[in-house]
Amino acid sequence: MFVTFEGLDGSGKTTQAELLADALRAEGRDVVATREPGGTPLGEEVRRLLLEGMEMSRWAEAALFAAARAELVERVIAPALDAGKDVVSDRFVDSSLAYQGFARDLGIEEVYELNRVATRGLLPDVTFVLEVDPDTSAERVGQSPDRIEREGREFRQRILDGYRIVAGKYKERVVLLDGTRPPDELHEEIRGRLREHS
Ligand SMILES: Nc1ncnc2c1ncn2[C@@H]1O[C@H](COP(=O)(O)OP(=O)(O)OP(=O)(O)O)[C@@H](O)[C@H]1O
Ligand SMILES: [Mg+2]
Repeated sequence: MFVTFEGLDGSGKTTQAELLADALRAEGRDVVATREPGGTPLGEEVRRLLLEGMEMSRWAEAALFAAARAELVERVIAPALDAGKDVVSDRFVDSSLAYQGFARDLGIEEVYELNRVATRGLLPDVTFVLEVDPDTSAERVGQSPDRIEREGREFRQRILDGYRIVAGKYKERVVLLDGTRPPDELHEEIRGRLREHS
């Protein structure tokens, strides 16, 4: 099973990805946990470029995310799934659809196409989008925003809108959750949804 977590910065992705990976492992399942951008040596280098680096054109940004994702699929995610393991990823393709496709106006379809080729069509079985408003996101992220986090409130709102459009487009795969609920409660709901799914 391939599960991904999505949402604004500070929405609780890492918290829920870790809770889920731990819970699955406690059941004796073999779990590979990963994050984007990153998760491979090339990916970590690309992450650094994207989050700390120079200004870049919008398609260059989208292509760098896709490059890191291609590497992650090829070297980590596909081999794990082929070996019958579960994969839990903190962000995946829907981040690009919401950020580059919608918020940066490149087009959700166009950005999906780039990623479809780069990932050989791999999509998660289930994706949880943790919804928090732009102000909650800012509060939780605190004092050290990265290049993309510095974009401000209006941009965060666009990303949130983008995730809602993506959720509407992939109804069978994407679950929207209220990210302001307590972490334990969210975790239980996620477990329940996954049991429904499998
Ligand atoms: N459901 C929740 N309710 C309240 N606070 C939460 C919740 N989930 C996480 N937090 C807190 O919010 C902060 C951000 O959480 P977390 O790091 O999991 O988010 P993230 O989506 O991974 O953020 P980033 O995009 O910056 O990596 C942390 O301090 C965490 O403890
Ligand atoms: Mg995180």
